[in-house]
Amino acid sequence: MKITILTIFPEMFEGFINTSIIKKAVLQKFVDIEVVDFRPYTKDKHNRVDDTPYGGGPGLVLKYEPIVDALKAVKTEDSYTIMMTPAAPLYKQKQAHILSKKEHIIIICGHYEGYDERILTHVDACVSIGDYILTGGELGAMVVSDSIIRLIPGVITSDSIESESFENGLLEHAQYTKPQTIDGLSVPDVLVSGHHENINQYRHENSLIKTYINRPDLLENYNLIEKDVQILNAYNSHKRED
Ligand code: ADE
Repeated sequence: MKITILTIFPEMFEGFINTSIIKKAVLQKFVDIEVVDFRPYTKDKHNRVDDTPYGGGPGLVLKYEPIVDALKAVKTEDSYTIMMTPAAPLYKQKQAHILSKKEHIIIICGHYEGYDERILTHVDACVSIGDYILTGGELGAMVVSDSIIRLIPGVITSDSIESESFENGLLEHAQYTKPQTIDGLSVPDVLVSGHHENINQYRHENSLIKTYINRPDLLENYNLIEKDVQILNAYNSHKRED
């Protein structure tokens, strides 16, 4: 897979590309990350990539020409082009799985107060990473790239992916490591019992309750079985007693 990032701040990607799992994925050729500065594509004599908005209003808007010319220079038949913008559907793990199967992803990083809407005629999808406004799309492009790269088969072990938050519709259960007791805090007995069925049951309950507390919206799309309802009822009546 190849990921091409169009940005006017290529230096922001140095740490991302040269650290930890992403660095290893690049060195082992699971992914090729190309960062392209679109400023040199401007035809403006002052090298400007933005201008004032038609109709007035605050801020500057990224111009059509430098972005579309840069896009044309990197695009192939296999490319899938994404625009990072808060004015888009929220990015989810399901989309990360779909994108991890693409041959070539191009991510355009918007900046300042926005971009000329006509750029979207060259774009396959707009993506927001959350309900907040960033100074630009660069951090979002890293978030999206990271979430895709780690799903490429071979980059990390698939066992760790299957048990993660969002993979089965619930948040991931609590985890513990050595020592068994620290500062008077002990690991739940069941996790050191060696009884796999009880461990799985405990983890499922923990996942369910964590999701109920932190992301109840996820349960709307989760198929709760009778046992799950009992677990949540027991949790609620226990809470009322506290
Ligand atoms: N650019 C600015 N804010 C953003 C967001 N929340 N998601 C994606 N791109 C952005």
